[in-house]
Amino acid sequence: MKIAIGNDHTALEMKRAVKEHLEQRGYEILDLGTDSSESCDYPVYGEKVGKAVASGQADLGIAICGTGVGISLAAGKVKGIRACVCSEPYTARLSRMHNDSNVLAFGARVIGIEMAKMITDAWLDATFEGGRHQRRVDMIMAIENQAG
Ligand code: RB5
Repeated sequence: MKIAIGNDHTALEMKRAVKEHLEQRGYEILDLGTDSSESCDYPVYGEKVGKAVASGQADLGIAICGTGVGISLAAGKVKGIRACVCSEPYTARLSRMHNDSNVLAFGARVIGIEMAKMITDAWLDATFEGGRHQRRVDMIMAIENQAG
């Protein structure tokens, strides 16, 4: 499975740690940057992660900024993306099982690196349950497809 990962300047160290952790777990990583600690604009990287997942270039995406909020908002604007910010593993797990989230975000200024790894593992180890949840996810995506 290929995971796209993107981050802004606040999250360089966390991105590197999560990336290494995932590589150790056998995932293929598509690192979309930034790889610099110079101030940059998180929407650029949120969009890159969203587009990599929506196009099928990656199966799932992880987006990290200071809070996780800005970069998740940007990723979620890409058609087909269900991005969520998670600061603990329970929400991350349920976001896969019930909401079929396809981009996970978290904040490098909010949680520590070990928590980021735990959240990532909980998210990747969970499976979408379908059934009534599929109907609800379809309702979400129908909103996206409405004109105006
Ligand atoms: C950068 O200062 C900060 O605004 C960004 O990392 C993120 O937290 C935005 O939501």
